[in-house]
Amino acid sequence: MVLGATGEMGARVCRLIRRLAPTALLVGANRSGTGHAEFPIRKVDVADREGLAELLENADLVINAVGPYDYDPSPIIHAAISTHCHYADLAERLDFIEQVAALAEARAAAKAGVVLVPGCSTVPGLVAALAQRWKSDPGVAKLAVFLSMGSRNPVSRGLFAGMMDPIGRTGPGGRWFSRLVSHQTDDGRRLVFGSYPIAFSGSRLPVGSRSVPVRFHMGFDRGWINRGLVWAGRVRGRLGTRGAKWLAALLFPLAGLARPLGTERGVLSIVAEDGEGRERGRIEVVAASHGLDIPALPAAWLAQALVRDGWLAAPGLRGLHRVVSPEAAVAALVDAGYEVVFRPS
Ligand SMILES: NC(=O)c1ccc[n+]([C@@H]2O[C@H](COP(=O)([O-])OP(=O)(O)OC[C@H]3O[C@@H](n4cnc5c(N)ncnc54)[C@H](OP(=O)(O)O)[C@@H]3O)[C@@H](O)[C@H]2O)c1
Repeated sequence: MVLGATGEMGARVCRLIRRLAPTALLVGANRSGTGHAEFPIRKVDVADREGLAELLENADLVINAVGPYDYDPSPIIHAAISTHCHYADLAERLDFIEQVAALAEARAAAKAGVVLVPGCSTVPGLVAALAQRWKSDPGVAKLAVFLSMGSRNPVSRGLFAGMMDPIGRTGPGGRWFSRLVSHQTDDGRRLVFGSYPIAFSGSRLPVGSRSVPVRFHMGFDRGWINRGLVWAGRVRGRLGTRGAKWLAALLFPLAGLARPLGTERGVLSIVAEDGEGRERGRIEVVAASHGLDIPALPAAWLAQALVRDGWLAAPGLRGLHRVVSPEAAVAALVDAGYEVVFRPS
């Protein structure tokens, strides 16, 4: 069951499930109950606990692709646990992921035999899964993550509003995206990025039995877009929540205008550093095109594993790194047509 199956991400999740788990019986849902010709769409709202429980009665896995993740997840988590249905979402927000974690604990998901995988997308899920390549290297003291997105990719209102939300807000080291840093990718290109929150509690990422500090930088393939976001952050920092929503709505049409000037190229670069901040190794995932499929892939991997093996992981709250090994993630990314660079130094 894919909630939000007609959205930008949900439709990708559905298309990828069709490819990776063709025998899965796929059903979508949204508020209107319409919008897809290839599989049935049921009508539900993520706030409707009874409707959700009815919807999940015979489902093995629900993928919640309804963003932005600024709502209460309890109706859907209650429904998933009471119907013994595994759950995943594509959330990038720490508050949402922590609410799911608290509900998993409070509702004894493990006892109910349910696996919950919040953040089952690029950030935090795939980043954590790939970083496990360094679990046997105690010399890795911290991690830096750089995500560059191709501005030619389609962007929905939900995606744009979610992406804009932290920009200009105050984070632990000052305002998010208040200045740009440059980072050289493995192919020698220099890209610019702004600092951005990452959904790991205390900004520490689990690597094997340790947890290491992680900093995150996000940006676009075109430097002028990143400079524009620094400017937008200055304005947004002076606005309240409503003003920030208004600014995001005002800027949304510009994202459409920028598309023909951009590329589809996306890069996820994860750099492992030693205690002195020297690079010790890196993993890079490069998408020449179809980069927006990457955040949708991990959820499709869950459907594939369930159909193939009939099993996901030990029940309870699980980060993607507890369900998918780094080797399996790399193999699946390569299989999907992406280039993956792994360079231990
Ligand atoms: N973690 C990551 O790395 C990562 C990367 C990319 C995206 N994302 C997340 O993915 C999210 C999804 O973005 P998107 O671009 O796919 O959004 P979108 O295109 O706006 O789609 C939202 C979908 O949810 C449905 N929906 C909206 N409100 C609903 C409700 N109350 N109840 C039931 N269904 C509802 C919509 O259909 P109706 O309007 O017809 O109901 C639509 O199908 C983003 O907000 C972002 O947070 C995360």
